[in-house]
Amino acid sequence: MLPTIEWKDDVVVMIDQRKLPASEVYVTCKTAKDVAKAITTMVIRGAPAIGVAAAMGIALGMRRSSATGTKQYTTEFQKICDLMAGTRPTAVNLFWAIERMKRVFAEAAQAGGSVSEITLRLEREALTIHDEDVASCKSMGAHGATLVPHSANVLTHCNAGALATAGYGTALGVIRAAVEQGKKVAVLADETRPFLQGARLTAWELINDGIDTTVITDNMAGTMMRQGHVDLVVVGADRIAANGDVANKVGTYAVAVLAKAHGIPFYVAAPLSTVDLNTPDGSRIPIEERNEREVTHLGSSRLTPGGARIRNPAFDVTPAEYVTAIVTERGIARAPYEESLAQLASAPVSSSVARS
Ligand code: MRU
Repeated sequence: MLPTIEWKDDVVVMIDQRKLPASEVYVTCKTAKDVAKAITTMVIRGAPAIGVAAAMGIALGMRRSSATGTKQYTTEFQKICDLMAGTRPTAVNLFWAIERMKRVFAEAAQAGGSVSEITLRLEREALTIHDEDVASCKSMGAHGATLVPHSANVLTHCNAGALATAGYGTALGVIRAAVEQGKKVAVLADETRPFLQGARLTAWELINDGIDTTVITDNMAGTMMRQGHVDLVVVGADRIAANGDVANKVGTYAVAVLAKAHGIPFYVAAPLSTVDLNTPDGSRIPIEERNEREVTHLGSSRLTPGGARIRNPAFDVTPAEYVTAIVTERGIARAPYEESLAQLASAPVSSSVARS
């Protein structure tokens, strides 16, 4: 599997997800501004990957700093954090990563670190965030695979795979782990209008891994369930509120309602960096409204007549009552989520891994 994002000496390299699957092109970011632009324009997307990119962008920006004194250096740091925070509003991993970089900065500065020492600490932290993300996807996969029967048809929405993380994936990590255990898994990938993350990215990843994949348009999910072609649903998340409400790619809510109507388990796989205990419920999650061109056009072809109003909310919120379980790197949370998520978030890593 190709790396989603890599720190290479003094640049950050990302696979351009807008170009997949037609071509494998890499974008080299030399400055924090380049990284911010890559996040905003969807070169890199997916909640955990956005968090990793922001951390690397901050480290890169500070490496480029010409500040000699800590005062100017601190001002630049704050500006770069603000730049990253303004890229995309829904995925909480972005803000989680920025806060982590801020903590490291404050600790290093308080300890009397020089500009170059603080720069090195920030770089190390960004790489740690990257590596931890891969490890937590692997752990999530191991926990989540216990929910997958020996032979299963699994429906997923959007792309919660290696491309949406530092590697391996959340929802697709669960599928990968089940396949690695020898389970027979066939995946139904929702195409995921309007940006087609399912048709383009999920299908590309799974096919590359030799996993049985069928792409369907979003409006086919109901009939597939009714005809008995879906045993379980697993999706990722951009932000999970303290009560278990889940913000994920628009269309996820409809899939969850359909799953409940057909008695099909609906699982969410996400690292604890996606769980936002400061947001009490889904109504408080900011939903990004993206450019209407994503809806009106397919490539350069216009689909809609001029004059029609367009809406393009990139995410929706699935109420916790539709969520059968939430798979995290520390174990599986079930309702009541206020308790189970808080417990997992505060549990020491070693003991919590034994929970599921
Ligand atoms: O707009 P995107 O492509 O960044 O949205 C991505 C999703 O909604 C994913 O399902 C979510 O981030 C989970 S990724 C592991």
